[in-house]
Amino acid sequence: MEIIWGPERGPVEVADLPRHYPWPERDGAAYVRAMMVSTLDGAAAGADGLSGSITGDADGEVFVAVRRFADAVLVGGGTLKSEEYGPLRSTPEDAAAREAAGQAPAPVIAVVSGSLDLPLGEDGFTGSAQRPLVFTTADPDPERLAALRERCEVVQADGDTVEVSWVIDRLVERGLWRIVCEGGPTLLRDAAAQGRLDEADLTFSPLLVGTASTPETQLLTDPRSFRLEQVLAADDFLMTRYLRRDPA
Ligand SMILES: NC(=O)c1ccc[n+]([C@@H]2O[C@H](COP(=O)([O-])OP(=O)(O)OC[C@H]3O[C@@H](n4cnc5c(N)ncnc54)[C@H](OP(=O)(O)O)[C@@H]3O)[C@@H](O)[C@H]2O)c1
Repeated sequence: MEIIWGPERGPVEVADLPRHYPWPERDGAAYVRAMMVSTLDGAAAGADGLSGSITGDADGEVFVAVRRFADAVLVGGGTLKSEEYGPLRSTPEDAAAREAAGQAPAPVIAVVSGSLDLPLGEDGFTGSAQRPLVFTTADPDPERLAALRERCEVVQADGDTVEVSWVIDRLVERGLWRIVCEGGPTLLRDAAAQGRLDEADLTFSPLLVGTASTPETQLLTDPRSFRLEQVLAADDFLMTRYLRRDPA
């Protein structure tokens, strides 16, 4: 793996990746990173409807490195279900480093879901080291709400929708300001529309697959502009870091 563009060019060891994805101090505000992989023709999923078929080893290493020192991993219900999220845990070394830095020993998984139709098995997201947070509407399905409350903390919005910007503010209130949003496209589109993305970590995978499996999202009325900070290359993949031009 090699950094081919950015302030510190040259070969990179996997163990050193977190240093190249720093979390800036925000003094009580959120820092939100979008983490996505895309094919050359802009698909977010391959023939199986998942990102696994378009990703690679190097991209996987970056994905893990970015999560390691995040406070919260934010995902939409669609992604949690389709990508079959497993438990979020830290190695003992990472847990110690996190605690020394004043963080919880592992990131919290935060899910946005109106349906609450989420998998509750032991080997899923509810087996995470930290109790998961689920953000939902004022009046969700009562049986699903009761079942979910046994394994997660559920936070309800006032109305029948869950604004991602409101979710981010609730995370910051809990001290969870280093946020990596792992998608899917719908949640990321809304985070961009609400002006809450500070960084876009986009991997370009050397594939052309068509976009039939990629969720359609609405056009942004106020498109966001990002500047290229860093490009890592490995195995014909490009792992880019884009920073928002007008940080909040
Ligand atoms: N290429 C990549 O890096 C990548 C990353 C992630 C996902 N993906 C792919 O993207 C697809 C899933 O993405 P997606 O865009 O369909 O889904 P998504 O963004 O993961 O989740 C959308 C879901 O989030 C919940 N949600 C979002 N906004 C809400 C609101 N305002 N109020 C209430 N609930 C809200 C709803 O969950 P409920 O349905 O539970 O109510 C909604 O169905 C899959 O094919 C996945 O494999 C690709």
